[in-house]
Amino acid sequence: MSKMALFFPIILALLASVIGGLYLLGMFRKRRSDEPPLDKGTIPWLGYALDFRKSTSNFLQKMHKKHGDIFTVQIAGYYFTFVMDPLSFGPIIKESKTNLDFEEFARELVSRVFGYQSVTHDHKMLEKSSTKHLMGDGLVVMTQAMMENLQNLMVHNIGSSKGEREWHQDGLFNYSYNIVFRAGYLALYGNEPAKNKGKEKAKEFDRTHSDELFYEFRKYDQLFPRLAYSVLPPKDKIEAERLKRLFWNMLSVKKTLQKENISGWIGEQHQQRAEQGMPEHMQDRFMFLLLWASQGNTGPASFWFILYLLKHPEAMRAVREEVEAVLKETGQEVKPGGPLINLTRDMLMKTPVMDSAVEETLRLTAAPVLIRAVKQDMKIKMASGNDFSIRKGDRVALFPYIAVQMDPEIHPEPEKYKYNRFLNEDGTKKTDFFKNGKKVKYYTMPWGAGSTICPGRFFATNELKQFVFLMLTYFEFELVNPDEEIPGIDPNRWGFGTMQPTHDVQFRYRLRY
Ligand code: HEM
Repeated sequence: MSKMALFFPIILALLASVIGGLYLLGMFRKRRSDEPPLDKGTIPWLGYALDFRKSTSNFLQKMHKKHGDIFTVQIAGYYFTFVMDPLSFGPIIKESKTNLDFEEFARELVSRVFGYQSVTHDHKMLEKSSTKHLMGDGLVVMTQAMMENLQNLMVHNIGSSKGEREWHQDGLFNYSYNIVFRAGYLALYGNEPAKNKGKEKAKEFDRTHSDELFYEFRKYDQLFPRLAYSVLPPKDKIEAERLKRLFWNMLSVKKTLQKENISGWIGEQHQQRAEQGMPEHMQDRFMFLLLWASQGNTGPASFWFILYLLKHPEAMRAVREEVEAVLKETGQEVKPGGPLINLTRDMLMKTPVMDSAVEETLRLTAAPVLIRAVKQDMKIKMASGNDFSIRKGDRVALFPYIAVQMDPEIHPEPEKYKYNRFLNEDGTKKTDFFKNGKKVKYYTMPWGAGSTICPGRFFATNELKQFVFLMLTYFEFELVNPDEEIPGIDPNRWGFGTMQPTHDVQFRYRLRY
């Protein structure tokens, strides 16, 4: 046999593997005539991964300008089709799960980030118990629990004699995130039982323990975006692993079940998973996932809410007037030595100004990327009348922050905070927004939409309003430097929910009484 004949199969195998490799790297994918514009980027396989991670918002804005309302980009081996026309969102949001699946992507992420292996009914179970406990009548109970915990954290020293009316200085981001995180955590996961230590000691335990938890949570929070992208350097990876274990332990089923006032929402998650035979260590991991989902966004949002009020005196005035009117209507007054106010769900349903101010805060600072996996070849129908073919195995994504929330046609002067943007002239909630003369159904999307819409959205809005309500009734507060500019948005977190600022802003506060 000649040498050539000997090597021929080897050369052929090599060639096949090179071609196979190139295929895997996406080198041969060509746009078909009925598909959206395709942009693979310059780096094989990675495509635009680096630009996307560096600033999702800038990148998508650029692509929107370059390709128009629909385009497919390559990101780390996946082809993502972004739809940027909000009038075309409806069919995607409502598409059946057999075409566009939301669980596949979530499953991978929670396994990587929280070590949790999803079970079939996770989403359904969560949906059901959220409807029961975080909305409607359930919200009456949650509002009460949140209120009591906020008061324990914010005004526990009211009426004590020493130095209570001194000014305190803190970073506004740190202060707001800290208080809202801890009160939300205690309201959901329960309190230290009073029967063991007595009421005051139990309350004190809640204060110190939740503060420790927040301190560790913030470390994880800062690692989170790089953890989600799997780009943590080894040292940080070890730290993330340590923190994960710490939370599994601190939030374990065993420890949680010893608390009192555990919310129905958390209690039911245990019960359902235990009934399904899920091992306890996996349930512990789920508790951490829920802590993340429930506490990672509201704290940062409460910072932006207060900061926008501080920087917009007309907004502050309008919100303050509403708060005072609601209090007066229920015959309550805050005075030295008087009882703490009782702020109920009923009262929080009579605050259209605050509702609009919250909506406006989230329009400017909540920026999730909504992702669906394409389960079979399908068509996307755009409002323009054009159809586009999408391939099985790809992903379809929306980034409403650029597509809707910052669209100057839907929201004139979109970069400006206008506390009454979501109010009609007659003071009712405004829901009519237009683009190209057509009504836009999804005119702001901080909570996502469709089957993955945030199940905690009513509770979260309540939390934000309760926090600001208490700040306004019990405290005087101001920026240390009144001319301080509103900080920029940290570009590392685009896509994950509420954005965080590039730096904190100093403020001071003191009890009014
Ligand atoms: C300002 C605060 C909040 C914002 C901006 C926010 C936003 C979001 C978004 C954008 C999603 C995912 C949507 C998607 O992937 O399509 C989500 C999911 C979720 N949120 Fe929220 N959220 C907030 C507060 C809360 C609170 C307070 C809770 C619970 C008490 C909560 C519980 C959840 C849960 C459990 C999920 C996952 C649901 C599923 O299985 O699909 N969130 N949230």
